Amino acid sequence: MLPLSFKPARLPAGSQEGVLITTEHKGFVGVRLTADVRGDENDPAVLLLPDAGEGQAGWQKVAEALVLSGRRVISLDLRGSAADWSSADRAAHVEDLRAVLAQLGSRPVVVAARRGGWIALNALVTDGAFLAAGLVLVDMPVDQASTETAARLALPTLVIRGGFSPSECTPAGDAFNAALPIGESVDIEDADMALAADRTEALLGQLLDFIERRQPREAVEFRAGSDPRTLRDAMGCFATGITIVTALDGNGMPAGLTANSFTSVSLDPPLLLVCVANTSGTAPVLRDASHFGVNVLQIGQQPASNRFATKGEDRFANLPWAPGETGVPLLGGSLVSFECQRESLHEAGDHFILIGRVVRAQFEPHRDPLLYFRGKYRRLHFA
Ligand SMILES: Cc1cc2nc3c(=O)[nH]c(=O)nc-3n(C[C@H](O)[C@H](O)[C@H](O)COP(=O)(O)O)c2cc1C
Repeated sequence: MLPLSFKPARLPAGSQEGVLITTEHKGFVGVRLTADVRGDENDPAVLLLPDAGEGQAGWQKVAEALVLSGRRVISLDLRGSAADWSSADRAAHVEDLRAVLAQLGSRPVVVAARRGGWIALNALVTDGAFLAAGLVLVDMPVDQASTETAARLALPTLVIRGGFSPSECTPAGDAFNAALPIGESVDIEDADMALAADRTEALLGQLLDFIERRQPREAVEFRAGSDPRTLRDAMGCFATGITIVTALDGNGMPAGLTANSFTSVSLDPPLLLVCVANTSGTAPVLRDASHFGVNVLQIGQQPASNRFATKGEDRFANLPWAPGETGVPLLGGSLVSFECQRESLHEAGDHFILIGRVVRAQFEPHRDPLLYFRGKYRRLHFA
């Protein structure tokens, strides 16, 4: 059965988390449950389950990051309050989750927090592989009964300890992990805390690693003559940073465009290149300019990346920029800004390759890069 109804987006247009819709699902005995859904409907799904009686606030940051990493995220609200944890309530939660999973068009990876983990474990212990592609239990409290249930779970499962707060290794936890037939476990403290900026980031890194392994996308093929979109998708498998390439036009006005086709070419002499589409409005300026700038963007400059990739925007308005020593526009706050003298220009299909000799580079060692992968913005998950 499909979700019963859709309500309009509640996030502002252009929100980085993607469009948020609220869907309603039939739970056990027809109870109506709501779920917030973000991300592209063609992306593999992840279902986030909160602790019993908790809303989705604890999952908010994780949900947004998963969408940016190319996942469709379904944040399901459970019925009842935190106090509703009688055996009848628990059984209803379990049946609710099974009913919702059966209504989804594809099998998600289920990621559940604390007592939500108990619900997910019990919902998936029977026919789990038909309902979900994998299970992640974050800080789930364990006891003898749940360990016995875990032993019957025929689904790839990742147990994460310390996902929300510091964990304690207990014999019960070890027995639970050992009981899982297709299980793996990680303690955030041991694994990632030294590398990640915070606990949520460390948790996210573990989630993404598991999800990528347990819910791989289908392989797609490009052959000469296939549509350019497939080639673009193939090229998009190469993760890059993002730059804004700038120059002054004949009237001394700044011009620029977003480009990820940037590559370092040579150290001696110091050369770099960028590929520019012949159809781009900035192409004539870059063809004529004796100098150009390449501004490598940091994570906070995503709005600038959007702006310099969108037609009809006044790209430099309200943006901190200043002319460099050679006059080229340099964007304040960039990770690194290169000022280049035009070395050569090579025609290459529907693009031209612009090679520049670096005359000056200013860089900021402390910021994180803005990344681009498979058509979406990304950020580093580890330092
Ligand atoms: C992440 C990203 C990377 C891009 N990389 C390039 C590139 O390397 N070369 C290019 O010509 N256009 C690239 N584009 C597209 C241009 O930024 C976009 O077409 C822009 O509107 C061109 O502006 P213009 O026509 O005013 O020059 C990229 C866009 C994005 C979002």
